[in-house]
Amino acid sequence: MKWLDNWIVPWQLSRLGILGMNARNSCYIQRYNPRSKYPLVDDKLKTKKLALKSGLKVPPLYHVITAQHQIPKIHAALAHYDEFVMKPARGSGGNGILVICGRKDDHYVKVNDTTLSPQQLENYLSNVLSGLHSLGGQPDQIIVEHRIQTHPIFEDYSFRGVPDIRVLVFLGYPVMAMLRLSTSSSNGKANLHQGAIGLGLNLATGVPINAVQRGTLITKHPDTGHTFEKIRLPDWDNLLKLASGAYEVTGLGYLGVDMVLDKDEGPLILEMNARPGLSIQVANNAGLLPRLRAVEALAEKEAPVAERVKFSQHKFGQK
Ligand SMILES: Nc1ncnc2c1ncn2[C@@H]1O[C@H](COP(=O)(O)OP(=O)(O)O)[C@@H](O)[C@H]1O
Ligand SMILES: [Mg+2]
Repeated sequence: MKWLDNWIVPWQLSRLGILGMNARNSCYIQRYNPRSKYPLVDDKLKTKKLALKSGLKVPPLYHVITAQHQIPKIHAALAHYDEFVMKPARGSGGNGILVICGRKDDHYVKVNDTTLSPQQLENYLSNVLSGLHSLGGQPDQIIVEHRIQTHPIFEDYSFRGVPDIRVLVFLGYPVMAMLRLSTSSSNGKANLHQGAIGLGLNLATGVPINAVQRGTLITKHPDTGHTFEKIRLPDWDNLLKLASGAYEVTGLGYLGVDMVLDKDEGPLILEMNARPGLSIQVANNAGLLPRLRAVEALAEKEAPVAERVKFSQHKFGQK
């Protein structure tokens, strides 16, 4: 029965108060997320503008491309930047994201060391604008933003990608968090279904509780061989406060806030999700239901961000 040690089996999950897909949709998403607010998070440009207006920190915005005729002018517009990231405003799952990390003559250098000629970059931009990567193939817009500089604490734990931190925020209270690390099998992307690692995080401290890859418990990064116990997220309280503040800004009661930790800028909001996935529970070896119910049961839910974070750290964190 050795294999049982390494697998989280379904009966263990149900005992932990695991939230399932149907209950998530009907009891939480439908009840707490007004449909009219979805566009705010489904379009990354809208999210960004909203965040900038509300004082939530996001990766600095360099440029926006909204029409085909603007494409040839992009080289001059970005002449001052050696590094940047281009992404479809309505993209998802990491599709269509171009990370440029330098220049060689008039070519742009990608993270895998291959280069793009000015014409190739223009073709890429033209395809994105036509909706190649957008939800439903609708015409899209392109965001050009600061390239996140991976924080030194992740040096031993990332494979060609920026780790991100998902915080699930319910009615403004952070209820669960996980760190996602890219691996060679996830192609440098931090998506769990592509083989990235999910580490549940102790809400009180920002220290990992448990690590899983493709549903299996693991103890070290498969590419770098480093074990996870040295990880402790810096600036943890501020990170939770930034995530919690997204509730007032979006009006979404059940919200996944994806954050990154930039070497110089600290915690930043990368994107938000109105239909956050359920695997955060597997990474934490804990169910969401008891936590969501604890927040719902609060007689007085409206409290300042700092108080909400304190409540969650005390109630849902481990001593
Ligand atoms: N500004 C950035 N700097 C560096 N890497 C980025 C940046 N934006 C996105 N990425 C990379 O692309 C991945 C997906 O980006 P994200 O904005 O979350 O879009 P998606 O909706 O496609 O998941 C991130 O996990 C990260 O690895
Ligand atoms: Mg993402």
